[in-house]
Amino acid sequence: MRVDFDFDDPIERRGTASFKWDLHGGDVLPLWVADMDFASPPQVVEALEDRAAHCVYGYSLVPDSLVEAVVEHLDRRYGWRIEGDWIVWLPSVVPGLNLACDAFAAPGEGVLTVTPVYPPFLEAPGQRGRRLVTVPAELRDGRWELPLDGLEAAAAAGARVLFLCHPHNPLGRVWRQDEVEALVDLCRRHDVVLISDEIHCDLILDDLAHVPAALACPNDADRIVTLMSPSKTFNLPGLNFAFAVVADKALRRRFLRPGKGLLPFPGCFAVTGAEAAYREGGAWHEALLAYLRGNRDALEAFVAAEFPRVRMTHVEATYLAWLGVDNLGLDDAAAACRSAGVELSAGAAFGDPAYLRLNFGCRRATLDEALRRLSTVL
Ligand SMILES: Cc1ncc(COP(=O)(O)O)c(C=O)c1O
Repeated sequence: MRVDFDFDDPIERRGTASFKWDLHGGDVLPLWVADMDFASPPQVVEALEDRAAHCVYGYSLVPDSLVEAVVEHLDRRYGWRIEGDWIVWLPSVVPGLNLACDAFAAPGEGVLTVTPVYPPFLEAPGQRGRRLVTVPAELRDGRWELPLDGLEAAAAAGARVLFLCHPHNPLGRVWRQDEVEALVDLCRRHDVVLISDEIHCDLILDDLAHVPAALACPNDADRIVTLMSPSKTFNLPGLNFAFAVVADKALRRRFLRPGKGLLPFPGCFAVTGAEAAYREGGAWHEALLAYLRGNRDALEAFVAAEFPRVRMTHVEATYLAWLGVDNLGLDDAAAACRSAGVELSAGAAFGDPAYLRLNFGCRRATLDEALRRLSTVL
């Protein structure tokens, strides 16, 4: 069994059909798409190697042992006791957002979310013929907050679904229990279904607790769908595996109905990798959090010292930083960074063109080199 994890190990990703590294190519450091440049936990690699060596890649079922691994993971990390049959398997989280639009809003009805946010939150409603309603997050005393009054007004005007990103990509906030409770209260009063995307929940960098929305408000199980995946935590997005947790049977049925005939069962590598990650990835995960904390601290210190005109709030969770760059007088900040040799995500896709998103889920040496390159622009 390999037990070493070296997050500084240089692993060449160019030429592996990597979305992050090969889409643009060239000598550009890609600090954009949200995967990490690290090898997954060695136990996951070994499990996948063993599975590959079997040489027969037929249809897979989801073994009871994987159901148990998910149930145990949620209990161990969050004290959230779920039943196995609350789980709905998904090929990834984004189909869950789209399904929710179909399931819980009629054509033309409103789907509400807080901007800026991960672009598929903004795309899914229109893709499904529903109406996107956005309310901007509020920056108070250097901290991003949920715009509860704006959400209340928008819900009162007739939204049927609310997408919550919890913790938030790209704002890096871990929403507190009282904030989540206020949001669920609002959903209850306006008969809105809450879709809580908790894909980043295992990536809490500060001494803060992630409280799943459905755990915070167990009496509102009939209006909460939680979306989760091991893909961000253990760097497995290429395995295509995610799940929803829906405690209420009627809500689960409604959620599943539009997906009939469209959702593939998880593949054999997905179930193998996910189970190994949840069962055996704990030590790697702790080491990862320590490494990401180091990157986050280095980034925050560098921006404060060297980029005084760039606005950056503290990143409590995720490996994503949200940089306000509208004071720099650049026509196209993302293009300017690309010319300097660093690909960042343009804020416009997240709903705010004044920002860029930087992914620090990379080797420290890559981050240092990217910041050196960005010094000519930022
Ligand atoms: C909030 C959020 N949800 C979903 C996803 C993507 O999930 P998946 O690849 O499972 O569709 C991401 C990826 O960055 C994300 O940040």
